[in-house]
Amino acid sequence: MNRLKTSMIALVVLLFLAATTANRVANSQAGKPATGQANVATNADDVQRQCPIDAEVQNCTFCVDPTEAPTGLDDKTNDFVDQGQHDKDRETFEVRDKILPDATQGGGLGPVYNAQACAECHQNPVTGAVSQITELRAGHLVYPCSPTVDCAPSFVDAPGGSLINDRAIDPRIQERVPPVHSIGLDEEEDVRTTRISLNTMGDGFVEAISNTTLLKIAASQPYDTVSGGLVHGQTINIPIEEASPDSRVRCRVGRFGHKDQHASLLSFSGDAYLNEIGITNRLFLMENTSLGRFVGFGSGFDPLPDNTPCNDDPSITCGEDKENDIDAFTRFMRATRAPSRDKELAESGKAKEGEELFKKVGCDVCHRSEIVTALPGTLINAGTFKVPDALGNKIIRPFGDFLLHDIGTGDGIVQNGGQSTRLKVRTAPLWGVRTHTRLMHDGLSLTFLEAILRHKGEAEIVRQNFESLSQGEQTEIIIFLESL
Ligand code: HEC
Ligand code: HEC
Repeated sequence: MNRLKTSMIALVVLLFLAATTANRVANSQAGKPATGQANVATNADDVQRQCPIDAEVQNCTFCVDPTEAPTGLDDKTNDFVDQGQHDKDRETFEVRDKILPDATQGGGLGPVYNAQACAECHQNPVTGAVSQITELRAGHLVYPCSPTVDCAPSFVDAPGGSLINDRAIDPRIQERVPPVHSIGLDEEEDVRTTRISLNTMGDGFVEAISNTTLLKIAASQPYDTVSGGLVHGQTINIPIEEASPDSRVRCRVGRFGHKDQHASLLSFSGDAYLNEIGITNRLFLMENTSLGRFVGFGSGFDPLPDNTPCNDDPSITCGEDKENDIDAFTRFMRATRAPSRDKELAESGKAKEGEELFKKVGCDVCHRSEIVTALPGTLINAGTFKVPDALGNKIIRPFGDFLLHDIGTGDGIVQNGGQSTRLKVRTAPLWGVRTHTRLMHDGLSLTFLEAILRHKGEAEIVRQNFESLSQGEQTEIIIFLESL
């Protein structure tokens, strides 16, 4: 890569972005929990745009060519930490949390939750990867204009946030998609979706992609001729939960989750520990409600307080995560290798032909086959993390661009991205897709062909290109997908 050009672009990006002051996204929500968690819709797009980010690019003194990131669907470390540490962190990722503390663990499950361990949903074929498990989100639309004026509707969360937790530690506080007449929720929440679990293998490399690289990919898309100029990947700036309150920048380009709702693995871990397992932690100290009803400590439903200090530093409040498991989850994911391909199939003539056709029809305009991570030593995540040697200057082959697109499948839910993202979904990274039985964000497409035929909107021309291929050529593309 031409480093001079990169740093010039970076400078322009910086000047453009540093203009305004940081603004906590979710705090602007009256009556909503004061957190940046992705369970709470941000309704204004400008809040997003006003949160500055770093370019995350540095000049190299002794430039070396990037090398391929290590791959493997196994339990091996990518050398971010040693194997012994990685195995320990994997065990923490696999721990099934309970309601009350015992001799081996801290407790804290619930009051509302989805599962007992990260690995319950991130497991196939190894801890950290995917599963068939889906989650529920719901809300409704409001029309800010009179019925005669044409204006875009706005998404509003179901009471307490769009995530409808599937489990509770007491049946009296079980959530479900409203209406729930017995507690006075008579309104329908008719914007609903299921969301399939995502792979986290290789996510340390994804985290190490600089903001500038993602902005450049987005900028390249409107000029693309293969897609007929339809493709416009959108980036959104997401608060970094671990950033210091007086940090110059607080945000970063989102890349994790179906809605790009997070930009750092630590923020995601804190959010998931709370929203999936119901365990408050130093980044998210407020328990979720049950459809807006307070069910935390003191309500009679939740036995553990959320103001407990951290074991290792009593000046910090850790809530129910006294051991700072969120750091172990983060270190685990950062140390995973990127998903590997089925080598034998990948070498076959048909898969190779399929790969060529995949590019020729324009699938790779969004499903990018190559991205290079930031140089080692680059400060990312609003200055809180330095890209280590194991993750920096690596070539990854995610077959995704980590940008939001409207391909006609958008689920109508707004999370950290503002209303302009309502109908958009992140390009599904296709690495490891052969381990997914249910496809697309909602898990409702069961074959590769069905998933491809759902591509409309920004992918309309590319899908048409696909459909105009011969049956044999289409099959070759699918064989290529089966090798990923
Ligand atoms: C009940 C199932 C479930 C549990 C438990 C769970 N997750 Fe997830 N995870 C999901 C789903 C579903 C998504 C996609 C969410 C979305 O974007 O709507 C996801 C997405 C992620 C992502 C984003 C991956 C990417 O590349 O975009 C990360 C990181 C993650 N989870 C980490 C964790 C951690 C850490 C834990 C444990 C604290 C955890 N998850 C627990 C289901 C689960
Ligand atoms: C405009 C960008 C764009 C183009 C072009 C595009 N895709 Fe996609 N693709 C997406 C998005 C966005 C999703 C996720 C959609 C969702 O979850 O609702 C996706 C999802 C998929 C999935 C499902 C993967 C999974 O893990 O669930 C497959 C398979 C897929 N695309 C294959 C293709 C193929 C083959 C082509 C070319 C014929 C193509 N895509 C072209 C954006 C694109």
